[in-house]
Amino acid sequence: MSSYGIAATGLFTAEVWRRAGLDQAELFGTGTGRFMHACFRLFARATGPTLPDFLRRHDQNLLWRHRTLTEWLVSTSPDIVVELACGYSPRGISLAKRMPSLQYYDTDLSHVIARKLSRMRTTTLPTNYHTQSLNALRPHILETILPNREAHAANTAAVISEGLLLYLPPQQRETLWKNVLEFLRRFRSGYYSFEIYPANGFLEVGRVGQWYAKALSLLTGTDVLANLFVNVDAALAAICAIGFTDARVVATNKPCHGAAAQCAVIEATYRG
Ligand SMILES: C[S@@+](CC[C@H](N)C(=O)[O-])C[C@H]1O[C@@H](n2cnc3c(N)ncnc32)[C@H](O)[C@@H]1O
Repeated sequence: MSSYGIAATGLFTAEVWRRAGLDQAELFGTGTGRFMHACFRLFARATGPTLPDFLRRHDQNLLWRHRTLTEWLVSTSPDIVVELACGYSPRGISLAKRMPSLQYYDTDLSHVIARKLSRMRTTTLPTNYHTQSLNALRPHILETILPNREAHAANTAAVISEGLLLYLPPQQRETLWKNVLEFLRRFRSGYYSFEIYPANGFLEVGRVGQWYAKALSLLTGTDVLANLFVNVDAALAAICAIGFTDARVVATNKPCHGAAAQCAVIEATYRG
């Protein structure tokens, strides 16, 4: 797995959010992101009608994922949010401004957090917004987020990861989920939300889709197609097997012509 390659894909997403005018997203527009997005537009134009539907609607799908996760987060009324692998997401600053009683922790690998902090130096950050360098795959790493004394004062915690699981082979995904559950156990109730791309929704990828998946695999150093769950039920069963109390599908971006969902946002719950 190449953490630098994975982080580069975050610059692309940041550009999609900036182009859509999301709150605070202008902070994270970069030349690299613009270049990657322009290359993708060229690729889409060159491949035309042979481009599978999920790639033709790539920007809309990424925006759907981001908005669905944000709405879910707000609906859980958390006291504390930890966003894993936040990349250049503007969500944390935006929500911390809107919800002053919330403590929001944006976390990612150190080089991404350093870059994010440098992009935010021109803006006044709310005091309830925090950043922390954190490799989410290190055992017990989430214990470093909040001293126990303060954790007890918070009833509900929510953890979120967006655009990360696709790049993690099953064993690493399991390690990450165990870390999340260990963290949530410190609170009265805890929620974790993430998106999956079920393999049955990818059956339509065709040759152009395969090229795209290969390019993404080369960039990120992981075979993304091999990391997919067979279907949504397999993902729900896998996260419950970790020890979460329950898991459910929050929403899917099912195309209207009846094909399987290409992306599903999932919520796993822990109740103490
Ligand atoms: C595809 S980007 C997604 C970023 C952002 N959430 C988004 O939706 O655009 C994946 C992110 O995962 C981060 N990442 C990769 N491995 C990680 C790890 N072991 N721990 C924490 N973050 C990691 C990368 O640095 C990168 O920012």
